[in-house]
Amino acid sequence: MMKIAIVGTGYVGLVSGACFAEMGLDITCVDIDAEKIEGLNAGVIPIYEPGLEELVRRNVEAGRLHFTTDLTECLPHVEVVFSAVGTPPDEDGSADLKYVLDVARTFGRHIRKYTVLVTKSTVPVGTAQKVRAVIEEELEKRGCKVPFDVASNPEFLKEGAAIKDFMSPDRVVVGVDSERARKLMAKLYRPFLITNFRVLFMDIPSAEMTKYAANAMLATRISFMNEIANLCDRVGADVEMVRKGIGSDARIGNKFLYPGCGYGGSCFPKDVKALAHTAREHGYTMQVIEAVERVNEQQKGIVFEKLQTALGDLRGKVVAIWGLAFKPETDDMREAPAAVVIDHLLNAGAKVCVYDPVAMPESQRRMAGRPIRYARTMYEAAEGADAVALITEWKEFRMPDWAQLYTAMRGETIVDGRNIFDKPEVIAAGFRYFGIGK
Ligand code: UDX
Repeated sequence: MMKIAIVGTGYVGLVSGACFAEMGLDITCVDIDAEKIEGLNAGVIPIYEPGLEELVRRNVEAGRLHFTTDLTECLPHVEVVFSAVGTPPDEDGSADLKYVLDVARTFGRHIRKYTVLVTKSTVPVGTAQKVRAVIEEELEKRGCKVPFDVASNPEFLKEGAAIKDFMSPDRVVVGVDSERARKLMAKLYRPFLITNFRVLFMDIPSAEMTKYAANAMLATRISFMNEIANLCDRVGADVEMVRKGIGSDARIGNKFLYPGCGYGGSCFPKDVKALAHTAREHGYTMQVIEAVERVNEQQKGIVFEKLQTALGDLRGKVVAIWGLAFKPETDDMREAPAAVVIDHLLNAGAKVCVYDPVAMPESQRRMAGRPIRYARTMYEAAEGADAVALITEWKEFRMPDWAQLYTAMRGETIVDGRNIFDKPEVIAAGFRYFGIGK
């Protein structure tokens, strides 16, 4: 059985580990966080991701998935090491490679036979070279010549659909610079090939660049649509019609064209900043990308602006927030627009009551000490509220009982930060409706 180590048990590491194990490989997931590893060994999944808990449990029981804090112990026995550790942004927006290079150092110190170190974390172009240099340095210190290769295999999975995305991806991008590594990577992904997707082999810098280009392109579509929506608001057009109108052009396509209150999460904001930073390091300013980021920052304030327009002075006003996670099907609040809206509201003297199906514990942790009320249901959050602002488009918010809501609230303002409600229906129920560009 092919043995693999995966370092980092965040979204990417844990999902990759569980999915490779499901394909019959022997996987050891490694993390320096002892508490996390202890939890995982006891079946506690540190993140909310549909289907993951069951997948992990099944593969642990089958003896194919192991968790440890000790990379050195498993290194001599594996053929491939995936590095899926974090690359948090530095203050200047560049990706901090500390953890990535730590893995490389340990790898160089402890491999005993040909092993491939594959970087799955999103890292700037040129990182593989740095990784290789660190490994060579360590091998030199040991005074031995163990053969190795480095490879780049960026991950494109989405939170909330991570398992499906990993199991049947649109494509797998692999950057290699040796035939031996290429063969090994091809073997590793063969089980997934049955469902007929493509593995795209390329040189390493192109693979590293592909990940940033993909995320930046998607973020660009979102900021572009947010600006179109903002203009629609001013000229009296309906962005939903415009979205359908342009999305049915096959060259444009209909995905990722949804305006809203800005993109969040662990990838888009970080990667857009890092790409702009890499460009500047090379003496080039990416004007579109830098604007994408500025537009997004501005868009995160749009729900607050609409609340101000609707309610005037916000002091003493009660606002219900529906949805805290940066998107549905996750409890992740990293760079979440909800946090920005809540901040603005509290600063303006409003009272805030929130409800989210899964992200409330995460919010209590992140925003501890803030005067935020947490409700048990969406209707409880709206009790006595002057306005309801929808920030995350969870399914359970899609068809509210408008009559029940009307009775519960004291005001009649609905701000639909994701354009999921039927405007005429909301108005017919007696509310004032504020969407994004419609
Ligand atoms: C993203 C990429 O999709 C994925 O390929 C990459 O590996 C990691 O980053 P993720 O952050 O999990 O995945 O979420 P995604 O579903 O892409 O949404 C990102 C953000 O964009 C969310 O805040 C979402 O609300 C927003 N978004 C998305 C829009 O505002 N409009 C859209 O049309 C689509």
